Amino acid sequence: MSSQSLPTRRVVLSSAGIAAVTVCLAGCSSAATSGGTTGGSGATTVKTSDIPVGGGKIVGQYVVTQPKEGTFEAFGYLCTHQSLPVQQVTDAAIVCGRHGSTYSLADGSVLTGPATKALTKATATVSGDTITIS
Ligand code: FES
Repeated sequence: MSSQSLPTRRVVLSSAGIAAVTVCLAGCSSAATSGGTTGGSGATTVKTSDIPVGGGKIVGQYVVTQPKEGTFEAFGYLCTHQSLPVQQVTDAAIVCGRHGSTYSLADGSVLTGPATKALTKATATVSGDTITIS
């Protein structure tokens, strides 16, 4: 086998980089819409039945909560401490486990730091059994 038929090191590394970007884009795309759907207008939707009473769920780039039955709230999912995504919603709080900040299910205010600012409020509009978040 001659050395001319082998791909150069640069070609191999370039191909690996393209493959890595492709995998990341596919993974990021599915993560951004998990648990909800994003319509053509960019709005995110989720079924009311998917949001537990006294709890909530991370939907795309939002956190949707139902602090009391029939009342839905929505917030941006970025923790205000270092702008990283929160990871969990419990029956007590919206939790960012990076450094331990927790936020109120009802209004997104800080329950425990190090964050000092509330989550960014979003709009949750209920129509029938669907919540549209924007
Ligand atoms: S990034 Fe959330 S607590 Fe630090």
